[in-house]
Amino acid sequence: MRIRLGILTGGGDVPPLNAAISAAREEADSKGIELIGILKGWEGALEGRFVDLSSVPINPATGGTVLKSSRLDIRKIADARSRILENFRRNEIGGLVTVGGEDTLSCSFLFPSFPQVLISKTIDNDVGQWKGEAGDFLPDQVMNYFTLGFPTAAEKIISYASLGEGLRTTAYSHERIIVLESMGMHSGWLALSSALGSPDFIIIPEFPLKYDLFLERVAERYEEKGHLMIVVAEGARYENLGYLRAQKDEIEGFGHPRFGGAAQALSGRLKKDLAKNLNSRNVNAVNPSYLYRSGAPNDLDRSWAGELGKRAVQVLCEGITQPVFLALQKKESGFLVQEFPLSEFASMNDLHRFVDPRLYDPDKFGATELAERYFLEFLKKIPFDKSYGIWR
Ligand code: F6P
Repeated sequence: MRIRLGILTGGGDVPPLNAAISAAREEADSKGIELIGILKGWEGALEGRFVDLSSVPINPATGGTVLKSSRLDIRKIADARSRILENFRRNEIGGLVTVGGEDTLSCSFLFPSFPQVLISKTIDNDVGQWKGEAGDFLPDQVMNYFTLGFPTAAEKIISYASLGEGLRTTAYSHERIIVLESMGMHSGWLALSSALGSPDFIIIPEFPLKYDLFLERVAERYEEKGHLMIVVAEGARYENLGYLRAQKDEIEGFGHPRFGGAAQALSGRLKKDLAKNLNSRNVNAVNPSYLYRSGAPNDLDRSWAGELGKRAVQVLCEGITQPVFLALQKKESGFLVQEFPLSEFASMNDLHRFVDPRLYDPDKFGATELAERYFLEFLKKIPFDKSYGIWR
């Protein structure tokens, strides 16, 4: 039987996906192996939507995914496993590169004895493990330092929150409070990374918002500075665990509500509660939404997507018989790709990374110094220009 390899991308798209697909194809070409594209993630695997990638032009610098994406939870379909394996057999696909976030990769657990290489991609940065003893920071203990797509999205939110490139100039000029929303679903990584753009407050889902305390801090800080930048994660919650904003009537394939609107909801509440401190026109919400994951990848994302795509094909050609997870590890010499047998993890829960309590200060509503150190290993800080604090 001819051996061909398949590749699929699932979940929310991220800018470096084509870089991974293109590098995987180049590596397959160099080994004389055909790489078959599976359209729309697991949905295409189920429906047999396979395409020959050999003559397709793939530009690694263009965002999105030429293979398209979907959010179908095949675990909810009784015969999905057998239908997919049969489609692979008929199409002589003997190994699979699965590029996805937490949900797409959770479906890989359905095929424990099919050769598969898993690559994590999501602007939510929530696939991996944060290890190390309390209080310390050991970069090489973070399993899967970042997920593909996160560096590009983080660079954007850092810039939007900053004075040098972002919204703070107008917040200062008009004495406004600007509430900037991040994506990230239930994870606060993207919002937290904005710390490198020095916003005044950051609110993330992992630490439910103590609203009364927050309101007090906002009023004090506004009094002191005359303007504020607040970053809120779309999945942020109040102490009663209710979301600031989520539409439960728009549930997607994996059961998540549609997020979006947390900044609008929070600014609405602040407008009312701060009516005596400032004009309601001066509390504004900004939600860049899909801009976080659209457009071209930055250099870091693009180059590591290429490395992971290439390595995935190499691993499959080495003749693995069980799924392998490819992680990005930080060593003194820089980042490198490391393989972990998927059998080391009982389920995707073991690979789900929330923001660690060492990284967030819920009383100051902001990132700790440790968090900044974690991000500074792969992101840049935008310096704060002190002249924007001279006059109150
Ligand atoms: O999981 C990635 C992500 O971009 C989240 O940050 C966001 O909530 C979600 O996808 C949006 O999904 P959709 O494409 O279904 O609107």
